[in-house]
Amino acid sequence: MRPIYLDNNATTRMDPEVLAAMVPYFTEQFGNASSTHSFGTEVGSALKQARQHLQTLLGAAFDYEIIFTSGGTESDNSAILSALETQTGRDEIITTVVEHPAILALADHLEKTRGTKVHYIRVDGNGRLDLEAYERALGPRTAVVSVMWANNETGTVFPVELLAKLAHSAGALFHTDAVQAVGKTPINLKTTEIDMLSLSGHKLHGPKGIGALYVRKGVKYKPLIRGGHQERGRRGGTENAPAIIGLGKAAELAATHLETEQTRVGALRDHIERGLVQRIGHCFVNGDEQNRLPNTSNIAFEYIDGEAILSHMNREGIAASSGSACTSGSTEPSHVLRAMDVPPTALHGAIRLSLSRETTTEDADRVLEILPGIIARLRAMSPIWQERESDGELRASNVA
Ligand SMILES: Cc1ncc(COP(=O)(O)O)c(C=O)c1O
Repeated sequence: MRPIYLDNNATTRMDPEVLAAMVPYFTEQFGNASSTHSFGTEVGSALKQARQHLQTLLGAAFDYEIIFTSGGTESDNSAILSALETQTGRDEIITTVVEHPAILALADHLEKTRGTKVHYIRVDGNGRLDLEAYERALGPRTAVVSVMWANNETGTVFPVELLAKLAHSAGALFHTDAVQAVGKTPINLKTTEIDMLSLSGHKLHGPKGIGALYVRKGVKYKPLIRGGHQERGRRGGTENAPAIIGLGKAAELAATHLETEQTRVGALRDHIERGLVQRIGHCFVNGDEQNRLPNTSNIAFEYIDGEAILSHMNREGIAASSGSACTSGSTEPSHVLRAMDVPPTALHGAIRLSLSRETTTEDADRVLEILPGIIARLRAMSPIWQERESDGELRASNVA
């Protein structure tokens, strides 16, 4: 049976059209974009085109607002460090408790090594940001606010446009980690006050190890990586031409598919969630169901272990995850779900299903066919479930 891949928030399969666009830049078109002969200038034009595809996908006003980087992590680090350097007289950061480690680990490092004051804004049970706490934290010392566009574990979308306006009214810069949002939800930076935005190629059917940082025209920027004059002096080092061209192609394809795919994928995700909640007792969706990426479902099955669910699913040919790929291997429950005060009975039993434009109705139906049986088998082996069931507490709801 064809394996089913539902871990697209960890990474996506590179689109064959992306690979085809990249191949010539490994072979005949090997020039250095900085060279003035035609080997170089041809690559230079291809890089310009890639930048324009990203400009279109993001609704950026100018193509030079895009700086190519090695991925989401570098873009996030560059944005925060640049803001701290350019915002004279301001030395505080505001972020959220549910960010990706690409932000949280940097914030922690800055706190410990530079004594930077970091305000971590909390979220409620649906993963929504505490807006009042955000407004209270903003002040004359705020250098930069960094709030993700959408959470990688639950898909919850944050009101970044409003948050950017509020940041500006306090004189702070606003950065968003949009690694999970780009290509999945419409973005039009021209109509927002967002100063900087991070994205990553491998989350949108592009190559790994390539990403971009959008920096709005007029926003002061200090490079993280100093070297040659590449990227207008904002990121030194010979451009990774094949990867940039692949990212450009991925952006072009994402823009083409976005409108139809967000509806189709959203309907498939809802079909899976509805089917699971109907078939399985003590099962619920984590995250803000109103404001969520269409491809992401974080679903908790109480009284069992998520890792056990995933391993049984894997044996049935279905790949999913328990949260961020960057924290897998750790036995700690997800920092995102803990921040949302997910009850202890469900904290360990949550899994993330993340779909993509490659996910089919058959894939969704197979999840609905397989997962209830897995949950029932695991619950039959779970002492805590057994104990409660024998007390009569759960009998009525153990449907599967
Ligand atoms: C929200 C978010 N930010 C940043 C990253 C890191 O991106 P990259 O793998 O390109 O460094 C990820 C990847 O999982 C992510 O989900």
